[in-house]
Amino acid sequence: MITAAIVAGGKGERMGSVLPKQFLKIGDREIIIHTLEKFINCKKTDRVAVGINPEYYDYAEKLFERYFGKDRIILINGGTDRNETINNIVTYLKNNLQLSGNDILLTHDAVRPYTDERIICDVIEAMDHCDACTAAIPSTDTICTSSDGLTAEEFPDRSKLFMVQTPQAFRIKDWDEVYSSLSSAQKSIATDVCRLFILAGKKVSIVPGSPENIKITYKSDLN
Ligand code: CTP
Repeated sequence: MITAAIVAGGKGERMGSVLPKQFLKIGDREIIIHTLEKFINCKKTDRVAVGINPEYYDYAEKLFERYFGKDRIILINGGTDRNETINNIVTYLKNNLQLSGNDILLTHDAVRPYTDERIICDVIEAMDHCDACTAAIPSTDTICTSSDGLTAEEFPDRSKLFMVQTPQAFRIKDWDEVYSSLSSAQKSIATDVCRLFILAGKKVSIVPGSPENIKITYKSDLN
């Protein structure tokens, strides 16, 4: 079984809006509704869960019911950071559903409404030959490292740099081993599931994302 896990536990502080950015509208529908439609309509996903900021649980429940009817989406309280939101979703699924060893969690940012069926299916299919998988695109900018934000240090070879997107996938049975093997310091720098899997020594594959699959972060991303 494949469960899409849409992470929507954030507050969207960089957007500076009153409502968290996942509830702002693009056209006639909320960003999170555009995102959910992609996963609900995908032929390969069996169910859809959302990890929501607890302050917006009731708001989201009513919103989802209006678009998709009652009980179409499994709504779960998110955590204090993105990884904790995913951890809450995994814990809920393990405690409440009958899972098998190969069940996959397909995580996706609520604020990436422009993902598409091709990317979703490619990420799922790649799970045949890896422990975790992410959509990513080659970096178009030159990237440098800097410890203090003032002095440039390394300029890694751009041909080896990719910008990581979502969806990302992993087997639910591997999550506890990976998450519990890492220190709090490791978890706090690894804001991305695939980075957690790499730190735990797992094989992570890349499939092509798309330049349209942006994460809405600032007001200018809504233009
Ligand atoms: N996210 C989450 N749980 C958290 C924090 C973030 O599920 N505790 C989700 C966000 O809702 C978003 C995704 O992770 O869908 C990507 O995070 P980001 O763009 O950083 O969202 P926010 O944390 O909401 O934004 P900001 O950092 O500007 O506050």
